[in-house]
Amino acid sequence: METGLAGKGVLVTGGAGGIGSACVRTFAAEGARVAIHYRTSRDHAEELARETGGVALQADLTVEDEVASLFEAAERALGGIAACAAVAGVWPREDEPVWNLPLERWEATLRANLTATFLTARAFLRLVERSGHGSLVLVGSTAGRFGEAGHADYAAAKAAIQVGLLLSLKNEIVRVAPRGRVNAVAPGWTYSPMTRGELDEELVTRLSRTMALRKVAQAEDVARAVVVLASDELSGHVTGELVTVAGGMEGRTVHEG
Ligand SMILES: NC(=O)c1ccc[n+]([C@@H]2O[C@H](COP(=O)([O-])OP(=O)(O)OC[C@H]3O[C@@H](n4cnc5c(N)ncnc54)[C@H](OP(=O)(O)O)[C@@H]3O)[C@@H](O)[C@H]2O)c1
Repeated sequence: METGLAGKGVLVTGGAGGIGSACVRTFAAEGARVAIHYRTSRDHAEELARETGGVALQADLTVEDEVASLFEAAERALGGIAACAAVAGVWPREDEPVWNLPLERWEATLRANLTATFLTARAFLRLVERSGHGSLVLVGSTAGRFGEAGHADYAAAKAAIQVGLLLSLKNEIVRVAPRGRVNAVAPGWTYSPMTRGELDEELVTRLSRTMALRKVAQAEDVARAVVVLASDELSGHVTGELVTVAGGMEGRTVHEG
């Protein structure tokens, strides 16, 4: 089946991360020209750019001006951006119940996830306003659907992305692009640098108790869902949808017995 992405410009934020790299490779395999955004992972982003014939571009997505410059540079390099995958995000590793959660971490997590995604979506939609077409894929999390004890900040940010932001943007984009679409993917636990060192056998057994498929996703599982949603050929009548890539997860195991 054709994705119709050949020759199209695509920007992947967090493109040097685990899921982002898989998205870059999957878009490139469909013939897309990919701008690989990174913040600190310059070497990996440049290596990926060489591998895929794309371009590596740096920006801190929590800084308004840097996001604007990123989109300008990507548009210049690609000649246009047909699709954007907003993959960048931060999961604070430490387990902190809300009564111990410092305001500083709460604000930093919301900024690195929700505000960064807002700034990315805004910059992309400004471009769509001029081009009259575009497809945006946001990345949320099962934390935003089922909550995540010890990470209420992250769960709240992801819920806002994959519900309030998603459902508003899918109705806004058509004001400037009649066929414009916005969708989201909610990965569950996925092997990536974000979860490195966390996913031992015991944890996988515990976290997969509410899953039909008792395994952790590979980054490629998430990337394929992102690319299918980004494609106007495959998902031309799909908008405002949240696709969960989590082996049929139904929720969290709260108690041991
Ligand atoms: N892995 C999982 O189990 C899982 C589960 C659910 C949802 N997710 C979501 O999936 C997405 C990708 O995660 P991943 O697993 O691939 O993690 P990852 O390897 O840590 O990638 C995240 C990327 O986000 C970028 N980033 C973070 N803060 C940024 C900022 N302020 N400005 C610009 N870029 C920033 C980082 O770029 P640099 O490396 O260049 O600094 C990093 O490469 C995230 O939104 C995450 O929340 C992951």
